[in-house]
Amino acid sequence: MRALVAYGTRYGSTKGIAERMGKVLKEKKVEVMIEEAERVSAADIASRDLIVIGSAIIMGNWLRPAEKLIASNETALAGKRTARLRLLHGRLGPVARGRRPDKLS
Ligand SMILES: Cc1cc2nc3c(=O)[nH]c(=O)nc-3n(C[C@H](O)[C@H](O)[C@H](O)COP(=O)(O)O)c2cc1C
Repeated sequence: MRALVAYGTRYGSTKGIAERMGKVLKEKKVEVMIEEAERVSAADIASRDLIVIGSAIIMGNWLRPAEKLIASNETALAGKRTARLRLLHGRLGPVARGRRPDKLS
């Protein structure tokens, strides 16, 4: 399996969580790309089976690069296994869709 863990961060916590997720996935022999949302291309999404997108929440909103990544790739993401994560006050918020990456087989 090939996975992409994309993140939007302002202060670095979400990047840290993305890296931890990437580490867990690698331990499960998943090939992982970990990248800032604004640097992710449509080709990066097309070439992965599992897409995890996470963002800090600032004033009630996802950060724009993470939001834009989803909005610009809606069709491609619809055909993928996805998990979307929100970071709330330094903690990981609920997974909106999909399963926890450390529970994937
Ligand atoms: C100016 C500011 C606004 C924030 N607004 C929200 C918010 O509306 N809802 C929320 O749950 N957390 C909010 N937070 C908390 C951040 O989501 C949290 O600190 C997060 O860990 C930041 O992630 P980052 O380190 O990846 O940037 C806010 C934090 C700051 C500094």
